[in-house]
Amino acid sequence: MSTWTKIAPLTDIPKLGSRVVRTAKGDIGVFRTEDDRVFALNNSCPHKGGPLSQGIVYGDKVACPLHSWKISLIDGKAEEPDVGETACFAVKVEDGMVFLDIPS
Ligand code: FES
Repeated sequence: MSTWTKIAPLTDIPKLGSRVVRTAKGDIGVFRTEDDRVFALNNSCPHKGGPLSQGIVYGDKVACPLHSWKISLIDGKAEEPDVGETACFAVKVEDGMVFLDIPS
């Protein structure tokens, strides 16, 4: 079971940046790309748990701030040769407002 939860206006999330949403299941990073696409990932890097929300967004990836693994915002997978993945969450923008499907 999950529910769409209103997060913030899209304009409150910086381009190439993110916002952290605290949930009972842990922190989720909501990322905004240069072209205003929005993605949501578990805020923990699959390498050693670095805070992905503090990484640098480029294209549809984020570079972890700790050791620069590149994590796909689309599927949460690390770019080769690194191996690992973090959870993705559904996110949508309606009328300029970002909604996150938070698992219960
Ligand atoms: S913790 Fe993210 S690259 Fe090491």
